[in-house]
Amino acid sequence: MSTYTVQDDRKVTTRRLAEMKAKGEKIAMLTAYDYSMARLVDESGMDVILVGDSASNVMAGNTTTLPMTLDQMIYHASSVVKGTKRALVVCDMPFGTYQGNSIEALASAIRIMKESNAEAVKLEGGEDIIESVKRILSAGIPVMGHLGLTPQSINKFGTYNVRAREEAEANRLIADAKLLEDAGCFAIVLEKIPAKLAARVSAELTIPTIGIGAGNGCDGQVLVLQDMLGINKGFSPRFLRRYADLGNVITDALGSYITDVKSGDFPNEKEQY
Ligand code: KIV
Repeated sequence: MSTYTVQDDRKVTTRRLAEMKAKGEKIAMLTAYDYSMARLVDESGMDVILVGDSASNVMAGNTTTLPMTLDQMIYHASSVVKGTKRALVVCDMPFGTYQGNSIEALASAIRIMKESNAEAVKLEGGEDIIESVKRILSAGIPVMGHLGLTPQSINKFGTYNVRAREEAEANRLIADAKLLEDAGCFAIVLEKIPAKLAARVSAELTIPTIGIGAGNGCDGQVLVLQDMLGINKGFSPRFLRRYADLGNVITDALGSYITDVKSGDFPNEKEQY
């Protein structure tokens, strides 16, 4: 049983998120990549489900998010949408589908919206991708921004360490956040930046910020489902709070199943026809 009771069971929209920020109500966002988990996440009362390109890591076993394709994101997003009634479903635009060519960016975003029925897209970056952001928005597609440690740029950064500790990068991030807000983004993810900087950005913007490793001053928080459930056992950054130990629960269950099959205990008389 969930310990959280949904106060308002209306469908979550981008407009609702703006109202939540205005009221000081925090936004809960979590990733999901498939129908069965999306149902559980949605029924828990989550406000936003992000079909993250972290699917590349946690579903496909890649070391970065870069290999993810548009077809793969559409597959994951359409599965999640089918399992979701209340939460707003946001789909990541994968690497290579929006950088450098805003016409291709719009075509990619339109494919996501048409083929998956997701309700918004998320793009990584600020000034560098602003033309793509504006063109996608011009088609009536809601855009969530993503600044700070943007994993699609890992080869430029060379490390998954905290970003924007230096004044110059912090100032660029603040300028990028304002640019994204002015362009019409409905929210911005702030990943792995100092808490003080994230709190400042959140206070200066009217749109909500959603933090991951960005402290408590953000308007909402996001985590990767497999990480917070303890399925992805080897991953334990400082910002991650584990809400369950499903990795060990699953391992124990699998061991019991193998033991029962090998001993002939499963299936018993009631479990056969
Ligand atoms: O892909 C993803 O899961 C994300 C979140 C970590 C914000 O972008």
